[in-house]
Amino acid sequence: MKRIAVLTTGGDSPGMNAAIRTVVRYGIYNKLEVWGVFRGWWGLINEELKIFDHRSVSGIVNQGGTILKTARCPEFKTEEGMMRAYNTLKKYNIDGIIIIGGEGSFTAGSEFYKRYKVPCIGISASIDNDVNGIEMTFGVDTALNTALDALDKIRDTATSMERIFVVEVMGKESGFIALNVALAGGCEEVIIPERSYNFEAICHDIVEGNLRGKVSWIIVVAEGAGSAEEIAKKIHEITDLETRAVILGHIQRGGRPTALSRRLAILFAKEAVNCLLEGQTCKAIGLTRGEIVRVDFETAIQKKIWDVEGLYKMVKVLT
Ligand code: F6P
Repeated sequence: MKRIAVLTTGGDSPGMNAAIRTVVRYGIYNKLEVWGVFRGWWGLINEELKIFDHRSVSGIVNQGGTILKTARCPEFKTEEGMMRAYNTLKKYNIDGIIIIGGEGSFTAGSEFYKRYKVPCIGISASIDNDVNGIEMTFGVDTALNTALDALDKIRDTATSMERIFVVEVMGKESGFIALNVALAGGCEEVIIPERSYNFEAICHDIVEGNLRGKVSWIIVVAEGAGSAEEIAKKIHEITDLETRAVILGHIQRGGRPTALSRRLAILFAKEAVNCLLEGQTCKAIGLTRGEIVRVDFETAIQKKIWDVEGLYKMVKVLT
């Protein structure tokens, strides 16, 4: 292994720059030549890459986003797209790739390896924390804190004005942010893609609570489970109580990575470089039970198993 490439793909996750910086500097320390690929797989297909030196990654460790840019790339799912990406790797004599991304990125990496046998190692980076077999990706801690900070502010006005709020957080297929901010933010209800819910029962609880003197209520909804606007409208129609909707949106993906997000990004990236040096392939790096672990792509890309019911029960018990 002499030359490696690093790319960021899918939704950005806070800490990506800390991971890129580590791949570059730790790679160079281990006598590797490191190439930065721009806009994820798109950069490999269209030959948009450049060699990085120590200084290429100066001053980025504390920045959100990714200096390599990132994109969702449907072209890479086609035979032609993959072939063009492979031709670029061949042309630049690149022996292995480090993919910084989530479950979707590892699915693409796994398919690519099956066809072209270029070693691929994944660094788990996703605010959705949706990599199976891995307890924590990097970036999710920052996103949770961003969402929680907003939720705490909403609670101030919800309590003061005695209103119901429906707060929509990110998570098209994952309720991880929603369930965890609902728990940490002391919210009354949470609606996520992983579990069905009974709308009538929620409204009934709100009205009952109101009769007991409970005048404010926060319901967190993951974007993949429903629209805050629609849910708020329906609650108002049924309960006749003042209800507002807030969509937190993409602010949850940006911002300065927390100490934990940076620390994980750095340690995962070091492990990813080590994997390539050891001749490994198709491993996703992440954190489980306090250890940095390597999980086969085949496992990492399955639907994530996590304690949805246990956490949901705690939200309700503590309300
Ligand atoms: O990064 C993951 C994620 O934030 C999901 O939670 C969300 O559904 C999706 O990305 C939104 O992606 P986009 O910015 O491409 O609309």
